[in-house]
Amino acid sequence: MVMSADAQKRAAAARAIEYVRPGMRLGLGTGSTARHFVELLGECVSAGLNVVGVPTSDATKADATRCGVPLTTLDETPELDLTVDGADEIGPDLSLIKGGGGALLREKIVAAASKRMVVIADETKWVPALGHFPLPIEVIPFGLAATIRAIEAACASVKAPGSAVLRQTKDGHPFVTDGGHWILDAKLGRIGDPKALAARLVAIPGVVEHGLFIGLAQVAILAGPGGVRVVERPSS
Ligand code: A5P
Repeated sequence: MVMSADAQKRAAAARAIEYVRPGMRLGLGTGSTARHFVELLGECVSAGLNVVGVPTSDATKADATRCGVPLTTLDETPELDLTVDGADEIGPDLSLIKGGGGALLREKIVAAASKRMVVIADETKWVPALGHFPLPIEVIPFGLAATIRAIEAACASVKAPGSAVLRQTKDGHPFVTDGGHWILDAKLGRIGDPKALAARLVAIPGVVEHGLFIGLAQVAILAGPGGVRVVERPSS
């Protein structure tokens, strides 16, 4: 039977549950695929599994609370065993673009505090090179026009030219992240050297964080119409 897109996301999340062990401290990702994982984890907790989770967004915190997943914070629990999160694009070396849902800053802090990161997604997220999905970049509102100029110059300098556009809500206001910042979506097309671009972007003063996740994910669980496959990063 061919799975629907939502069933594919749930199947990827279900496979990720197999990576969870009793007593683990978990990072809980954000987005529609990660929500499936939180729901399935809640079922395991109801059945007696002992874990704690750190949510990567206010939305995930609400989902986890609804599902009965015990929560902690990185202040109480600064080291995590495993983060399970979705992605907007996944490259062959398991580099990611994240932040389509606006949670990239907390997602990256949580992933970086974890010993392992498993990314869950449907097959449409798997790409030969990152960049078709506009790259989310979280910025400070102050000096926005200057920051946009600096970002566009940084992108051009690594041969990924494009424009950075302020993300807006349906009613035309800037989209505000959980951290109170704004997001620029950089329409680049193809990012030939994600590492070089990441280094340029973090050097810009108005940039809080960017959605390139390099070297963080060890495992990708990809669900397609015909089933699930697991890809491990070669060096992990
Ligand atoms: C949230 O900021 C993003 O990084 C999400 O992880 C990403 O957008 C994936 O979301 P879906 O699982 O809904 O596609």
